[in-house]
Parts: sequence; structure tokens; C-alpha cells
Amino acid sequence: MSLQTFPSLESLSEAVATEIVRLATESIAERGKFKLVLSGGETPKTLYHLLATKYREAIDWQHIHLYWGDERYVPHDDPSSNYWMARETLTDHVPIPEENVHPIETTFDNPEVAAKAYAAIVNTEMPFDLILLGLGDDGHTASLFPGPEFDPNDERLVIVTDSPKPPATRISLTIRAINASQNVFFLVSGRNKRDALENVLNDRKSTLPPSFVKPVGGAVKWFSTQR
Ligand code: 6PG
Repeated sequence: MSLQTFPSLESLSEAVATEIVRLATESIAERGKFKLVLSGGETPKTLYHLLATKYREAIDWQHIHLYWGDERYVPHDDPSSNYWMARETLTDHVPIPEENVHPIETTFDNPEVAAKAYAAIVNTEMPFDLILLGLGDDGHTASLFPGPEFDPNDERLVIVTDSPKPPATRISLTIRAINASQNVFFLVSGRNKRDALENVLNDRKSTLPPSFVKPVGGAVKWFSTQR
């Protein structure tokens, strides 16, 4: 595990973009594709914009596959959709083939059906090359929230969770699915995350969800702004 701190979200995002270009180039050279799981929320927007602009030509988009670590159970054209956010900041601006974009479908009446459908995709596609994750001020990651409902040993790959912040119904990869990756990058910005970050990185008894992230590839990198 490594922790790098940055003076700004812009410099943090530049560093992550550079790492993604490096990993994508290596993965495509070795295996013909780079399987990247996107995070939602506000923090990764700067990174996605950089990938679609400054680093656009450095990435072989024809061989990139995109997935989501979690999704709010809303239509894909809802402003709170993680898929919609990625479209606005990234996928609408790069020449990635449509068949390489694997969103979490939210059109089923029952979110449990959506979770099962995405679990089938995850089961086929894993292990991933890189999973991007964020950190909530309560210590959640993806849509795995601390509390009695959280089971780090859940055998399932994708589950329905109940978020304390709206939209309430979420679809999320489990710790098992997240750990089925070569690399995991946590992107953390905002003073309000400091306590959760301190807990995860320094409390050996931490039971916050990020504490159970131990990817098969062994590489967890933390990118955090200093304030
Ligand atoms: C989501 C994300 C969530 C996010 C954290 C941090 O769907 O919102 O997957 O886990 O990464 O809540 O969000 P911010 O980057 O907006 O602080």
C-alpha cells in the first residue's frame, strides 16, 4: 500500500492519469486490452476530463473496456447517475467502441435483478486491471457503507445496498469483486475525509470497507489531497 499526497485535486488527477496511461499501455501490450472499473461521485471528474483531453491520444481507446464499481439506481440520463457523469466527462469525448462500455443497467423494475445481471458480467470479465475507488466521509467506498449490513466476506460479486445519502438504492461491487483486480487506486479529496482516511490507513482494527480491499495483484495506491 502506498500513499501519495497532493496540493490540489488537479495535481492528484494528473498523477493518476499518468499511472493509468502506463498501466493501460502495459496491459494492452501484454493482453490486448485494459479493463478499468470507474468510480462515481465528484472526485474522479477531473481525472476523467484529463483522460478525455490532455491524455486522449496517449490511450488506445479501441482496447479499453470500462465498467462501474457502483451505480445509483436511477435512469442513465439522471444527473445523479455515475454512468451519466462518466458520459459527460469521458466516454462521449473519446473513440471508445460502444461494446467496450459495460454500464450497470438500471432499467429493471427490481434492483436485485440488476445486481444479478451485473454479477454475470463481473464474473465473466474479472480479474480487472485497475479499479478506481473513492472514500466517503463516513468511510464508505463504492456503495459499501459501514454498519451491520456490510459483510466483507460476502460471496456475491454485486449487491444492492441502501445509501444513507440519496439516491438511496445503489448497486455495488462487493469486496470479493473489488479484490478481483490487479490494481486498486483510491482517489480522496476534501478535508471531510481526513478522519476516515486516518482510520483506514492507521487503525489496524479498522472495520471500514476500504480496510478489506486487498486486490489479488497486491497493489493498493492511495492518492489524497492534503486538505
Ligand atoms: C458514488 C461513489 C462513492 C464516492 C464517494 C466519494 O457513487 O458516489 O462511488 O463511493 O466515491 O462517496 O465521493 P466524492 O468523490 O463525491 O467525495
